Amino acid sequence: MPNIDSLTRDLWQVVAATNEITPGLVETTLLLDTRIAITRDRDGAPIVWRRSDEEQGDEIDPATVTERLPVITGYGYIWTSFGNPPAELFPIPEYAEPDRVNMSCGSIGIHVSAPRAVENFLDMGHFPYVHTDILGAEPHTEVKEYDVEVSEERDEVLATRCRFFQPRAALSATEGQEVEYVYRVPHPFCSVLYKSCPEDESRRDVIAIFLQPMTEERCRAHLLQSMIDSTSTITDLRRFQQTIFGQDKPILENQFPKRLPLDPRSETPIRADKSAIAYRRWLSQKGITYGVIPAAS
Ligand SMILES: [Fe+2]
Repeated sequence: MPNIDSLTRDLWQVVAATNEITPGLVETTLLLDTRIAITRDRDGAPIVWRRSDEEQGDEIDPATVTERLPVITGYGYIWTSFGNPPAELFPIPEYAEPDRVNMSCGSIGIHVSAPRAVENFLDMGHFPYVHTDILGAEPHTEVKEYDVEVSEERDEVLATRCRFFQPRAALSATEGQEVEYVYRVPHPFCSVLYKSCPEDESRRDVIAIFLQPMTEERCRAHLLQSMIDSTSTITDLRRFQQTIFGQDKPILENQFPKRLPLDPRSETPIRADKSAIAYRRWLSQKGITYGVIPAAS
């Protein structure tokens, strides 16, 4: 049993898409090396508990579950905690805008730590090589100068003015364009990105990745899209995002070590890694040890 740092223990952790849990049926999954079970009651309210080895079967009367873990729902997902979680999840205000198409885009198991997956999500340098002719294309390989800060007030990493030429920035894009990104890391294992919206120049599409740390070297990526797109179907929007993530998965699984090294000297940084460096430092300062290799003190 690994040592779970107190901050990780007290966080809300994503465990499943709400609409994929059927009332009265049990889904099991792994969170922080612990087997948990999830169901919903007749009113649709989620229930999460530690699954014991003796428990069997896929059906349950939710009323019989007495030892429940804390639960909150948000952004289409169920979140739980092994400690004392905050009153609310981190905010994504755009999610509530009435004309947005909000959708979960699936939960994908990846054999890498959650922090490694966050760091890959922040990296624009891989676009032309991994998402060729969609999110990037040669010769447009340069990651231009951008700004990174850690907001003390909101306790999150923020990268702004990130610009990249993309052949097909979104499903609704009809031609290549220079796209502007803003990245937030409002939770050690979650990131939210805002990118230029091809349909409305004044607004941004929102794509978020919520990582469920299953073990220190394995996670599930739960994806959210909150889009301004009046023409595409939800199925097509989902498929677009799944295609992108399908390209990231093998790259992520080839990373070594699978835990994220926090020592600044462990991997040679280049300018494009500015947000990654800020993220690693933020994790270090917080005292996160789960899924990382802490810096030598
Ligand atoms: Fe990627």
